[in-house]
Order: sequence, then structure tokens, then C-alpha cells
Amino acid sequence: MILTPAASALSLSSAPPSEIDTDLLIFPLFEADTFGDVPGLDAATGGHITRALQSGELRGRPYEFFVTPASGWKAQRIAVVGAGKRAEFDTERLRRVAGAAALSARARRVTRLAWVVRGDVATASAIQATAEGLGFAAFSIDRYKSVDKTGPAPDELVVVVPSGGDRSFDAALERGRILADCCNMARELCNEPSNVLTPRELANRATAMAADTELEVDVLDETEIERLHMGLLLGVARGSIEPPRLIVLTHRPRGLSSSKETTRGHVLGLVGKGITFDTGGISIKPAEGMERMKTDMSGGAAVIAAMRAISLLNAPLEVIGVVPAAENMPGGRAIKPGDILTSAAGKTVEVINTDAEGRLILGDALWYARERGATHLVDVATLTGACVVALGKIASGLFGQPDEWVETVRRASKVAGDRAWPMPLYDEYAEQLKSEIADMINSGGRPAGACTAAMFLKEFAGGLPWAHLDIAGTAWAEENKAWQPKGPTGVAVRTLAELAFTSGEWK
Ligand code: BES
Ligand code: MN
Ligand code: ZN
Repeated sequence: MILTPAASALSLSSAPPSEIDTDLLIFPLFEADTFGDVPGLDAATGGHITRALQSGELRGRPYEFFVTPASGWKAQRIAVVGAGKRAEFDTERLRRVAGAAALSARARRVTRLAWVVRGDVATASAIQATAEGLGFAAFSIDRYKSVDKTGPAPDELVVVVPSGGDRSFDAALERGRILADCCNMARELCNEPSNVLTPRELANRATAMAADTELEVDVLDETEIERLHMGLLLGVARGSIEPPRLIVLTHRPRGLSSSKETTRGHVLGLVGKGITFDTGGISIKPAEGMERMKTDMSGGAAVIAAMRAISLLNAPLEVIGVVPAAENMPGGRAIKPGDILTSAAGKTVEVINTDAEGRLILGDALWYARERGATHLVDVATLTGACVVALGKIASGLFGQPDEWVETVRRASKVAGDRAWPMPLYDEYAEQLKSEIADMINSGGRPAGACTAAMFLKEFAGGLPWAHLDIAGTAWAEENKAWQPKGPTGVAVRTLAELAFTSGEWK
């Protein structure tokens, strides 16, 4: 079984465009742009680009794609991709436009391509965003097709910059490559069906993904989970024949000289929901669309993939990734509505709805991350349909406390190009979680369903700075976009990795 998509060869070049030996040399085109800064381009395309600009076939609108043969240049063909208004061009637009171009190239069975950096984004940032965008095209959901539909993954990518030699450029390229590869690994995990990706297999994949890094891997089995009294995780897992796992990955930065010491005792705890299939349990879900619940481990995949990136990039603080993995099934031993579970933290929970299982397993995992010394927490979960109602598939819901920590996470998500929008956690929401006989119930009913779910998690954050990303709407794209095919998105991987580089600013 292949564990990871093949990483493609990616390099930088500061040769003039005419000297780039590639099958497809791609230029972004802004609106009202005439390529005045690219001497010889029009001649190399036999005047085709000028004609297309004049006829209006090419207007620089985002994701327009135009391909023409090249002559006299080393490139076989030249492509132009619309990049929108020059004044609106930023790293996120660049990432998407480069991604769209790479997908178009892939659809044309082109595997050697080069991207010419243009526009006003600082060169190092542009290199990283380009590497990410081009790199995303290496992922395809065709793993289980017996005939190839998408075309081969790119195998030779070149980023062409105006001037070379800057070491920060090489680092930016490497960072972009690692982030794209790790995102694609998370997508690969989300795409796996639940008969393949059981909790045990998720643990195996995490172990394999950590093997060539310096991450410490700890997989706790059901006996160890019992010894820790994680009654919430055990309760959810009871209905399945598949035993639960607690996947724990630890990053310790290497080579921090004391003068550069930036960890200041901070330990980032990343917690990801790893439900490998969510039937709803005894509170069973309707059949329609249930197949999508194989992606209910997307938060866990994001944490595992982000931990790999954090290790490969040697983030300057200690990070611990915790993924509680279980299958939520109805069965003779399954928990039933009204059952009371005792969490490892000691709080008791009356299970009103067995389909509100994510918050249960996360409750125990947040406790575990604290036990292991986390000082700052972020959890990522496909937690509620209510969050999809609130924000659609455009942004993840962002909750937490205190506001400064939430803002730190929001800024990281913005830099990373993962949209997350702040949602409220008013104390009054806690009233919806009151139980008559236990400390709380696990479902607050329909009103503010995403907020009450977050409120439940807050009870397990132990007063630490904590943020919660509800990715129920963003983990899977339901339609093909120019820059992103239908399927798993890899959301939150880059946010979490980015966050691990911001600890210098934390309280
Ligand atoms: N995994 C689901 C949430 C979900 C819904 C993810 C749609 C992705 C797309 C979660 O475990 C769930 O079932 N939540 C319930 C909570 C309710 C029972 C309080 C929901 O959202 O309906
Ligand atoms: Mn559920
Ligand atoms: Zn779920």
C-alpha cells in the first residue's frame, strides 16, 4: 500500500525564460497586462499571445488558461494563466493561480512545468506560495480507479525567479514543498475508505509518516487507554469491533542555541478528531450521504500531517500532536442515549446523542495533551453540521479563549491560506449542556449547534489558551474549482504548521 503521493522534483532557476528547458513554461497574466517586462515572449509564440490579448481571448481574469507552442526558446510550449488585478495579487491568489495552472497542465498530461514569478509579492513569499500551489496538483483522488483519469502527477517543477543566489529563496522553496507534500498526505488519508483506514491503520500511517522525521511516535492501544481511564474515547469505540487508538506524536526542536531560544517553556498541543467512520452510532445517521463520514478523521489527518511538517521544518518549540482514533458504530455493546461516561479528567457526561461523538473523544484527548505538558491548545475537528450551516464550505469555524490566542490562530490561518472565521463562546451556551444527573450532556440540541459543541470542548481545556477549528464544511470540497478538485482539501495542515512558528509572540 502506497503511503504517500510521490514528491516531485522541484527546483529554482534564475535563468532567463528563454533558457528554461521544460515542457510547459507558465506565465501569470494580470488584467491590463501586456508582458512588456518579458522580452521575446511574443516572438517565441509566433504572435499568438498578442493576438489573444487583442481579441480578448486573454484578459487576465483569474484562472483563464491559454497554451501555445514555443519556438526559439528551450521550452516546448508556453502557457498563460489569468491572475486577476495586479493590485489584488497576494500570496493566496498566487497559490491558487499556480495551483490552477498545474491542474490544467496535469489534465493535458504535461509533467514537466515551470512557473515564472511575476507581480508584486515579495520574492521569497512568492516562491513558497508557488511551490505550494504547484505541489497541490500532485494529489489525485484516482487511487482506486483501475484506469487513470487525472493524468500523471507532475515530476519536474521549476520556479523561475528574476534573480537567484539568495539563500532565503531556497528555504522558501523547501518550505512550500514540504507544506504541499504534507497537505497532500493529509488529503490521501481523508480519501481512504473506512474499510482500509481503521483506527489501527491510521496509527500505522501516522507511524510511517513520522518514520523519516525526528518525531517521537507513541501509539496507545485499548489497554493503555483503559489504564488512563479515558472513558469518553472508550465509550465511543465500544460499538465497533475495531479497537481505538491514541496516536501521539512529539516534536522537540533540535539545535536551538540558548541565545536563539524561543520556546520559553511553551508547548503547543495539537489535537485532531480521528473518527475513521461516523455512522452516528445508536443515534444512527440517515443513509443519504453517509459515505462522506469516512472523512470524519480529517482533523486527525491534519494534525498528523502538520506534525510531519513541523518536524521537517524544525519549528522552534516543543509540539505534541494527539489524535484519538475510533469508529462510531451501532452494535450490541455500543453506548446508548442516557448512558453516563466518566472522562479521564473526572467529569461525567450523559450521552444524549451518540452522534455527538467527536466532542467526547476530543474531551479525553485535550486532557491527555495537558497531561503531557501542553501549555497552548488547538483542536481540529469535523465536529458539527451546524458549522456548515453557519459558514458554508468557505471557512472553518474558529472558537476559543482568550481572544488573543484565538487571534493568533486566526492570523496563522490567514497567512497559511486556510480560511477560519471567529465564532462566539458566550457563557450562556453552557446552559444547553446541563444534565439532570451528570456533569453535562453531550448535545445542546439544534440552536447554535457549533457553539455548544465548542462549549463542551472548553470544559476540557483546563483554562489553558485553547482554540477549536470546526472543519466540517472545509475538509472536503463538493465541487471542482479551477484551483482545487472536488475531494479532500488538506485544510488546517498549513495553519497548524504556521502556528508552530509564531511562539515568539505568544504570552
Ligand atoms: N461528524 C459529524 C459532523 C459532520 C457533519 C461532519 C457534516 C462533516 C459534515 C458529527 O459527529 C456529528 O454527527 N455531529 C452532529 C452533532 C449533533 C448530534 C449534536 C451534527 O452535526 O448533527
Ligand atoms: Mn457524529
Ligand atoms: Zn463525527
